Amino acid sequence: MESLDALGRKYQTDKASGKHNYLEAYDALLSARRLSARTLVEIGVKNGASVRMWRDYFPNAEIIGIDLNPKCKEHAGERISVEIGDQSDSEFLEWIMQRRPVDIVVEDGSHLWKHQISCFRQMWPALEPGGVYIVEDLHTARLERYGNNGETGAAFFARIANVVSATGFAPGEREDPFLKVIRGTVDQLVFGPAYCIVVKRKDVVVKRKARGQHNAPRPPGPFREPNLVDVA
Ligand SMILES: C[S@@+](CC[C@H](N)C(=O)[O-])C[C@H]1O[C@@H](n2cnc3c(N)ncnc32)[C@H](O)[C@@H]1O
Repeated sequence: MESLDALGRKYQTDKASGKHNYLEAYDALLSARRLSARTLVEIGVKNGASVRMWRDYFPNAEIIGIDLNPKCKEHAGERISVEIGDQSDSEFLEWIMQRRPVDIVVEDGSHLWKHQISCFRQMWPALEPGGVYIVEDLHTARLERYGNNGETGAAFFARIANVVSATGFAPGEREDPFLKVIRGTVDQLVFGPAYCIVVKRKDVVVKRKARGQHNAPRPPGPFREPNLVDVA
């Protein structure tokens, strides 16, 4: 079987060696799930390179790509569907996460700090037990055009590491119910240059409101005008 990096280079995603070089680290964690993964959701389709890579890497999985840009629909195909929507639209994300069990989420969308944080907060609770959440391009923490006030994505995930490692809560943390969820559900956190991988414990019970409703209609939700922010 081809390595994830070989597939990434074949389809020319910037996740591969030669550019961001994330894929060897992902492969080390994901290879045990290669045959068992049923659903991978990736935010950020662009020219379809990574959804094709994931499809080939996970032979039994459905790949769901999410993007603002309606043109990305053209990358749908065998075991790949593309849903057009905004990663800041909480109704849309809830619909994505509730209609079928999701084993892996890859967040490679706007790279705005607020989206790096809000997507994890929203998608993590619905991720399957043993699931994997990957957030990419945390280097935008030093680039003001991705957010110029508030917490950076990198700082937020470092805070998650602190909460998981420590006992008790730092001042102000106890009021955030999500941090309690985090403490009881994270199995492993892996940081590398510009990415973070969060693995969910296997003994977590995940409540899915519309379990099995694969054809639940998409909510009308506000469709925001494309505001394409990309990493050069
Ligand atoms: C870095 S590219 C994705 C690259 C792709 N994952 C790959 O590796 O081949 C980022 C994509 O995110 C999309 N995007 C930007 N802001 C978004 C948002 N708010 N919601 C959904 N998608 C967004 C852009 O249209 C763009 O196609």
